[in-house]
Amino acid sequence: SGYLDRRITLSLFTARQYPSTRLRRMRKDDFSRRLMRESTLTPGDLIWPVFVLDGQGRREAVPSMPGVERMSLDLLIDEAHEAYELGIPALALFPVIDASLKSELAEEAYNASGLVQRSVRELKAACPELGIITDVALDPYTSHGQDGILDEHGYVHNDRTVETLLKQALSHAEAGADVVAPSDMMDGRIGAIRAVLEQEQLHNTRIMAYSAKYASRYYGPFRDAVGSAANLGKADKSTYQMDPANSDEALHEVVLDLSEGADMVMVKPGMPYLDVVQRVKRELKVPTFAYQVSGEYAMHMAAFEQGWLDADAVLLESLMCFKRAGADGVLTYFAKRAARLLAQ
Ligand code: PBG
Repeated sequence: SGYLDRRITLSLFTARQYPSTRLRRMRKDDFSRRLMRESTLTPGDLIWPVFVLDGQGRREAVPSMPGVERMSLDLLIDEAHEAYELGIPALALFPVIDASLKSELAEEAYNASGLVQRSVRELKAACPELGIITDVALDPYTSHGQDGILDEHGYVHNDRTVETLLKQALSHAEAGADVVAPSDMMDGRIGAIRAVLEQEQLHNTRIMAYSAKYASRYYGPFRDAVGSAANLGKADKSTYQMDPANSDEALHEVVLDLSEGADMVMVKPGMPYLDVVQRVKRELKVPTFAYQVSGEYAMHMAAFEQGWLDADAVLLESLMCFKRAGADGVLTYFAKRAARLLAQ
């Protein structure tokens, strides 16, 4: 009976201590980890934001974004070819506008031979298969650094701004931009832009709407990169960009932009707003993008440079999380580096 007691004790112990479900079984080998992998990250998920400078043979570092350079178009074209070869579907173009061309009314924004319009034409001629996305917003062009036209009280006037954005978006589309991406957060701009594009027979110009764009302080390094930080000074953008406390409002913005004719919607910034990315995708099931913004890039780079985080592994993890949350793609300054790692 001593023997039997021991057998019973042992089997009870076995049943309690060793469950039949062991999640580690599937994690044991690479083949089974791969088979059950729920999300994938490929170069095809990445959009590369770039800063273009006027002139030739110019390359400037952005101090708050180590590894990111503003480049003149001739150099950017070489980089664009490389990005295309790496499997990156599209670039998002941001201009660095000379201070002498900035004004109260941002007229330079819709100059048919302005820096963006020229860059689009040349990039499309040099690398026709690479998608070109342009930023529709006035901040690189205004002397005050706001994304719109100010009224007499210094408030960004919605409808006057939309009128200028229309001209800007049209000039980009006429130059050959595949996608125009309004990042200004004015009300009604998507519908207005869509109507003008249709009217001008530009039926296939896509609109990627920065639908849920928050009044975030994570944009600081970007404003250094395009040179709008000093003009903006202590002012902020909270009368038009969203309150970081809100998420229902993000869905309201997304629904409006879709009903006005957006083809893709975006949440920005990225990692601090993953809950919003997930809600948008879950509830609306439309092409959804996230922008891993300049401040997120800067934080990662700062830790990488200190040796506090393993750069290659962490940057891929920081991008995979967007796919897991439901994003179809990510705008990231890491695009080329990530694409190279993914190719290995
Ligand atoms: C301009 C614009 C901004 C960014 C993209 N388009 C800055 C802002 O709204 O102040 C930020 C991108 C980044 O931080 O990487 N409307």
